[in-house]
Amino acid sequence: MDGPLPVSCDPLTALFKRVRARTEALAAGLSDADATVQSMEDASPAKWHLAHTSWFFETMVLARHVPGYRPFDPAFDFLFNSYYETIGPRLSRPRRGMLTRPCLATVLAYRQHVTKAVADLMGTRMPDGVASLVELGCHHEQQHQELLLTDILHLFAQNPLAPAFRTPPGALPAIPDRPAAMGFIAFDGGVIRIGHAGGGFAFDCEGPRHEVLIQPFRLADRLVTNAEWLDFIADGGYRTPLLWLSDGWARAQAEGWSAPLYWQRRNDGFVSMTLQGLRPVDPAAPVTHISYFEADAFATWAGRRLPGEAEWEHAAGTLAIDGQAAGQGNFADSGRLAPAPASPAGGLRQMFGDVWEWTRSAFLPYPRFCPPAGAVGEYNGKFMSGQFVLRGGSCATPAGHVRASYRNFFPPHARWQFSGLRLAEDA
Ligand SMILES: [Fe+2]
Repeated sequence: MDGPLPVSCDPLTALFKRVRARTEALAAGLSDADATVQSMEDASPAKWHLAHTSWFFETMVLARHVPGYRPFDPAFDFLFNSYYETIGPRLSRPRRGMLTRPCLATVLAYRQHVTKAVADLMGTRMPDGVASLVELGCHHEQQHQELLLTDILHLFAQNPLAPAFRTPPGALPAIPDRPAAMGFIAFDGGVIRIGHAGGGFAFDCEGPRHEVLIQPFRLADRLVTNAEWLDFIADGGYRTPLLWLSDGWARAQAEGWSAPLYWQRRNDGFVSMTLQGLRPVDPAAPVTHISYFEADAFATWAGRRLPGEAEWEHAAGTLAIDGQAAGQGNFADSGRLAPAPASPAGGLRQMFGDVWEWTRSAFLPYPRFCPPAGAVGEYNGKFMSGQFVLRGGSCATPAGHVRASYRNFFPPHARWQFSGLRLAEDA
């Protein structure tokens, strides 16, 4: 059923080509060894990310919707399935780093094979359901672009040479010594609506849009900085059990936490492993690589609390009025690849980009949530247990990927993402 490309598919074709090329550009500086080693169970090798994102298109789109499609290598179905029980058995996650074969060049050839086949399919008149799967595949791949960066950072942080993944582009904005004091912006209580309102892509867990009752609250106008985190450390924050949730205190003791994940204490202060190698901790920049447990302990120490996800989304929804909507924050496309200090201007800042913001909301289904039928129903719904919601995107998130309704989620002990916090309080 070939035919001319429908006009409505053009933006999707552009998105697909842009996303596929960007993933390869991100990995361009990596050696085969860089792309093969797995530094911990939660992180995946870059080569696996490159291949798995192709497997997603091959399995969800090509194998089902292209008659006679021949997979690049049938063995890849086992190697690069992530967690889809309905699709079949897979290599266990902790063993992804055992894949010295296929080599990086073969994985890149696999990518080209899949990219061409999907592009050919998009040149036909695709049923709506297939176009939706291609769109999901693009947004899925963008999620893996961020994971590729955070996983490379974790890997390089294990190397005593502290290699830099990238050198920052020149002429980045000047950094003030310390940002202005944190202010708080008041919001009324009442019945609000949250969840994706329709129009444009959203993941299934962002809906249905629904009513929520919130109490009056105040939200910090910027993120918590490294300077404020240094105050928390100096005041014994990591040594005071009364500040901590029981599970958090146990984890902090078991793993010897005394600072954010990549910080190292030196005689003259802290340095931190970054995507630019080992750097002095910038007091003005937002703190990052902290767990939910640490964020919660800090908020308790500060006499405040973490925002709920409904509060966060309600506040973020007001930004479109000021023109500070999603897409205009410090995202990966800026090339900084590190959180940046808040601008001196007042108002609600840093809601999008810089660091994912822990909320105190468990990742749970919204009322009347119903995952889609089939394998893609495993995408989010089955992870709605034991995880907390983070909002707003980070300096490693591709620009244009997040929106006010976007719900990221990680277990409360996770620290290797660009995760930070914004304080809230009851009004
Ligand atoms: Fe995935």
